[in-house]
Amino acid sequence: MLVGDLPSEDDVQHLSSVWQRRSHVPNHVFATIEALPVSTHPMTQFVVAIMSLQTESQFSKRYARGMSKKEYWDAVFDDSMDLIARLPRIAAYIYRRKYKNGEHIQPNGLLDWSGNFAHMMGYEDESFHELMRLYMTIHADHEGGNVSAHTTHLVGSALSDPYLSFAAGMNGLAGPLHGLANQEVIKWIYELREEIGAEIPSKQQIEEYVKKTLSEGKVVPGYGHAVLRQTDPRFTAQMEFGKKHMPDDPLVQTVWNIYEAVPPVLGSIAKIKNPWPNVDAHSGSLLVHYGFVEYEFYTVLFGVSRALGVLASLCWDRALGFPLERPKSVTTKLVNDWLAGKEEIWEG
Ligand code: MLT
Repeated sequence: MLVGDLPSEDDVQHLSSVWQRRSHVPNHVFATIEALPVSTHPMTQFVVAIMSLQTESQFSKRYARGMSKKEYWDAVFDDSMDLIARLPRIAAYIYRRKYKNGEHIQPNGLLDWSGNFAHMMGYEDESFHELMRLYMTIHADHEGGNVSAHTTHLVGSALSDPYLSFAAGMNGLAGPLHGLANQEVIKWIYELREEIGAEIPSKQQIEEYVKKTLSEGKVVPGYGHAVLRQTDPRFTAQMEFGKKHMPDDPLVQTVWNIYEAVPPVLGSIAKIKNPWPNVDAHSGSLLVHYGFVEYEFYTVLFGVSRALGVLASLCWDRALGFPLERPKSVTTKLVNDWLAGKEEIWEG
């Protein structure tokens, strides 16, 4: 992601072992997580843990010693590599703490980054490891404009170190219009099945339910996107995985029925620009298949993956010497004029 080339097998082996070496998480991070009520949302625990890990930032230490601007990217790279290496351990710790009575699983140094993450969460099925590799790959990046990438970039523009910047990005990812949508999707499907009283609701039943959802002024989670105008290729990648590994799974089949039923309904509403599913519409159903039913945790998985993209961008931000970001603001008079129809600032 950093250099724009697909890595060779050797590169992958090298990166895996570098991340293994950098993956140590200091004890105070676990103690900080433990200080939070176990009922705390896993994304909040995740962000708090990342913040407590900021004690390890090389960027902030080197900055305090007076590093040259030319070295910024190097210190950001160093922090980014450490952070990426450590996130699976932190996320898995939160998962086991919250859902598995705090019975933690030690890392396995022989596994790759995603495989080890799956292992530390307690999933040993090789096809689940394969799913984690897919999941970690497809959630890593989506241009620089999404909330998590842009927030990381914005906070980094103040020369806040990668720990501070990434934690800020994760607060954005925790919003329902961004990464939290994957948990909303699964909730919505469970409600749909319960109301209809069928394990695999028909397309017609789904259509009726969607119309009801819309008439109540609610959205269909997992459908629509700020910039995509077609089925999200990440949805398709997960569909392919489902066809290969679990074609008869009732929840996965429901996701596919929804995919057939929903776009025509949404497409008939003039103001909806994109009636197609996005990445979040599919991810939960694959996880549930393996018994990973704790849907509140899904956004943390997204967050571990997103580190790859946003931190690669942060390295480029400092390498290219991007300045502090400071959008223009407007006056109250301008807002009042706009409300009175005299000004077109927002459309412009
Ligand atoms: C993402 O991956 O961040 C989502 O597709 C949202 C977006 O791109 O705005």
